[in-house]
Amino acid sequence: MSGPVIAVDGPSAAGKGTLARALAAALGLPYLDTGLLYRAVARKLQEEGGDPTAAEAAADAARRLQPADLARDDLRAASMDRAASQVAALGEVRAALLGFQRDFAARAGAVLDGRDIGTVIFPEATLKLFVTASPEERALRRWRERVARGEPVTLAAVAADLAERDARDAARAAAPLRPAADAVVIDTTHLDAPAALAAAMAIAARRLGGSQLLTSPA
Ligand code: DC
Repeated sequence: MSGPVIAVDGPSAAGKGTLARALAAALGLPYLDTGLLYRAVARKLQEEGGDPTAAEAAADAARRLQPADLARDDLRAASMDRAASQVAALGEVRAALLGFQRDFAARAGAVLDGRDIGTVIFPEATLKLFVTASPEERALRRWRERVARGEPVTLAAVAADLAERDARDAARAAAPLRPAADAVVIDTTHLDAPAALAAAMAIAARRLGGSQLLTSPA
């Protein structure tokens, strides 16, 4: 490993993307939102008329993924949530995306957020954080985001979608969502983004003495 690798895992809408991005900026590390990989595979399949539960076609789409596929601006749409979580349940798709994630961090290290970064992609990560929040708070945050985008959606519908996706992500056989044994849990239920970043930086300093994070041996 040429630089520090920080794994930030956790369920949807717990604040892990915001935290991971801020940590990467604070530490000068590249950042990868690995959920985008699964969303891009689902989008590609959808465009090609493929079924997000058909393993071979989905794995083939994953193998053909190009950097430009990740730059699309429609991947985060709520309409992609279900298909992304369906392709993410397929071991063949996960295997096809492994190399991309490891290569991303190979040169300078990285902060990666996802569900299995600390358990499967980087079991030897320098630091593993598991970011969570209560289901009620997560549903509220996601609902506010969607209402702010002008989407007419009820809190109950958002809560039901989140619960369905969390259950699929946690129950699947391939790399289920769970904290790594050596992950430090950050519960953001009562933390705003700056407070979550401060908590993560304090954990990093405590666990690693700062030095491993702030220097990247060649
Ligand atoms: O974080 P997100 O909502 O963009 O992720 C989209 C889907 O992909 C979600 O169902 C979880 C899944 N995912 C995964 O299984 N492993 C990852 N490393 C990242 C996301």
